[in-house]
Amino acid sequence: MSLFITFEGGEGCGKSAQSRALYKKLMQLSIPVVLTHEPGGTPLGDEISRRLKWAKSPDISPMTELLLFNASRAQLVDGVIKPNLAKGEVVILDRYADSTTAYQGYGRGLDLEIVKKVNKAATQGVKPDLTVLLDMPSEEGLGRKKARKRDRFEKEILAFHQKVRQGYLKLAADEPQRWLVIDASQSKAKVAEVIWQRVSKLLPQQEVEK
Ligand SMILES: Nc1ncnc2c1ncn2[C@@H]1O[C@H](COP(=O)(O)OP(=O)(O)OP(=O)(O)O)[C@@H](O)[C@H]1O
Ligand SMILES: [Mg+2]
Repeated sequence: MSLFITFEGGEGCGKSAQSRALYKKLMQLSIPVVLTHEPGGTPLGDEISRRLKWAKSPDISPMTELLLFNASRAQLVDGVIKPNLAKGEVVILDRYADSTTAYQGYGRGLDLEIVKKVNKAATQGVKPDLTVLLDMPSEEGLGRKKARKRDRFEKEILAFHQKVRQGYLKLAADEPQRWLVIDASQSKAKVAEVIWQRVSKLLPQQEVEK
């Protein structure tokens, strides 16, 4: 039984920590699972990701961002997501198309209809069964990672990150059956527990209880 789960949210909210925790939990239960991330997750995607995050020139236009994130995505959908879902595996993805809607649509202000169309072309309509939104005040998330060097997005002003956060909350409100919104300022263990409560219901019961 295939299952496609994505993690979303602003900077430092715990997407990578929680997607890894869920991956480990499923591995322990011997449930076939793949963990990957965006942008990147394929050799070409990783190259695109580096260009997007660490470009020396700051003037990458919002439309170029939209297309580059989706170029990385298209490669991941064809090379990793579709084949693993077809094998009946669980696919966990640390960021997906909703990140582009939140950052390039709500954050940068690109036309949401255009963002939707380009996302749809890149994803070929492959939608997550569940999207976990780790929601917290932007300044708290950014504060969690001040120690390391900031990429182009992390360097953005607070108002940008707040627009991204509001964008995510709007997406979740528009499609409540797909989204699980969690207060990400709780402990890692508590957040993981809330995620597991939901995910375990989506798995065949004999897999979860063994
Ligand atoms: N619930 C939590 N409570 C406290 N610290 C946390 C929590 N979740 C994650 N962290 C810490 O916050 C930092 C950022 O977490 P993580 O890298 O998982 O976030 P992220 O959403 O993947 O960030 P990014 O936007 O950079 O990808 C890490 O140092 C992590 O250990
Ligand atoms: Mg991360």
